[in-house]
Amino acid sequence: KNIVILISGRGSNMESVVRASQAEQWPARIAAVISNKADAAGLVFARANGIVTAVVPSKDFASRADFDVALQQAVDAFAPDLVVLAGFMRILTAPFVEHYAGRMINIHPSLLPDFPGLATHRQALEAGVARHGVSVHIVTAELDHGPVLGQAEVEVLPGDTEATLAARVLVQEHILYPRVIRAFIEGRPGAGSGTAA
Ligand code: GRF
Repeated sequence: KNIVILISGRGSNMESVVRASQAEQWPARIAAVISNKADAAGLVFARANGIVTAVVPSKDFASRADFDVALQQAVDAFAPDLVVLAGFMRILTAPFVEHYAGRMINIHPSLLPDFPGLATHRQALEAGVARHGVSVHIVTAELDHGPVLGQAEVEVLPGDTEATLAARVLVQEHILYPRVIRAFIEGRPGAGSGTAA
C-alpha cells in the first residue's frame, strides 16, 4: 500500500510515522512526502531517509481551487491508498476532499469535537478543561469534523502554558498517529484509540 504524507512545516508527526513504518515493517510504504512550502523543515528529514519529496508551493497559485488541482496531480502521481495530513496548514476545497473520501486522515491537537480550528491549546486553557489531547479523524468537507478514528488524552496541569500543554500533547501525537495509521492500512480502523502513556 502507498501512503502519501502532506506537511507544511516541522514535520515531527511525519517523522514519527516514517520511523514507525520502518521499525514495525508495515505492509505499506511512505511513497512520498509533499509540502506546500519549499522550506518546510520536515522535507530535510524525509530526504535524509530516502523518501521521495515534492513541493507544490501554495504561494504560486492565485486561488485555492488552482492549488488543489495541482496538489491532487502531485499526490495522485504516487497512487495513494491513504493520504496523511501531518501539520498541513491549508484548508482544502470540497472537490479535493471528495476525491480522497474515506482515504484521507488528519491529526488535530484537541479532543474533538472540542476546539476545532487554530490555537487549540489556548482554547483549552481558556475553557479551563481538566483533560485535553489529540484526535485523528477522517477528513470531510467540514474542517476538523470528520469521524474520529482515535484519540489520546493528557491532563491539564496547574501552571500550564500553551507551550507546556502543546509539548505534552505532542508526545501523545507521536504515539497515536502511527498507531491509527497502521490500524487503518491493516483494515482495523478504530483500533488506534487510547492514551498510550
Ligand atoms: C501538530 O500539533 C498537529 O497536530 C497540528 O499541527 C502540528 C504539526 O506539527 N495539526 P508537526 O509539523 O507534525 O511537527
